[in-house]
Amino acid sequence: MDTSLHSSAPQSPAPQASAAIEFDDVVAGYGDFMILNNLSFKARRGAITLLLGPNGAGKSTVLKTLFGLLRVRQGRILLDGQSIAGASPKALLAQGIAFVPQGRNLFGQLTVWQNLELGGITLGTAVTHERIPEVLEFFPRVRERLHSMASALSGGEQKQLEIGRALLLRPKVLLIDEPSIGLSPLVVQDVFKLLRRLADQGTTVLMVEQNVKSALKVSDEAIALESGRLVLHRPAGELLNDPHIERLFLGGAHAAAPAGQVA
Ligand SMILES: Nc1ncnc2c1ncn2[C@@H]1O[C@H](COP(=O)(O)OP(=O)(O)O)[C@@H](O)[C@H]1O
Ligand SMILES: [Mg+2]
Repeated sequence: MDTSLHSSAPQSPAPQASAAIEFDDVVAGYGDFMILNNLSFKARRGAITLLLGPNGAGKSTVLKTLFGLLRVRQGRILLDGQSIAGASPKALLAQGIAFVPQGRNLFGQLTVWQNLELGGITLGTAVTHERIPEVLEFFPRVRERLHSMASALSGGEQKQLEIGRALLLRPKVLLIDEPSIGLSPLVVQDVFKLLRRLADQGTTVLMVEQNVKSALKVSDEAIALESGRLVLHRPAGELLNDPHIERLFLGGAHAAAPAGQVA
């Protein structure tokens, strides 16, 4: 790793070799209202880092800020030790960061194939066409429906297509916000297994997920936010086996969410 070779400004403390992403004292928000309050954390390369916390804690805001959709008002965000604060989403895509937002983000009136082609628009047609079959290897059900309208796919297939579209770029960092929403438990398991496989191949995954227990099972690290502040950073396996996990995330000690609401 040669992160030091390219850095013009001195950066202290020295970036940790294994941290693909680092938030360093980040403040960000909407208008005059700051949501992330001096947030610092690191996400390891080739690991799945799970972002937990009650509704409104700022989890999606972390992903949006990382993807350049919100301005960093204070602090730094580092990708492989280099500051990326201020970079546009387009520039970040080019640097290998892909974002799969919450909800449905396809062009419903276009075909599966056309949606994939659009995902590769920055790559050029030749490269895109070469990569589409590679990506579809992961999603046999979607591959069978290349010429269907995206809106005709099931919710699970649509989410898989969205992930496939992001993978066309061969991202080194994949940001994914609540992928399990609206999917059946079996499909959710497929999506999680795919994320695990990608991480094992070296992709850094930062995932927001309310499906806490299943997500912890495939994740390496878990961090939890409350009101835009870090309240916990632990190995996922350790947290999964913590007898207090229910209290932590299902409406207890740490939870600002009303009891019963899944954090
Ligand atoms: N576009 C927006 N404009 C203003 N406030 C927003 C916007 N999006 C989110 N917020 C506010 O930011 C806070 C954190 O939101 P968010 O990051 O979406 O939380 P989470 O993903 O943890 O549920 C909430 O109080 C929310 O109301
Ligand atoms: Mg959210």
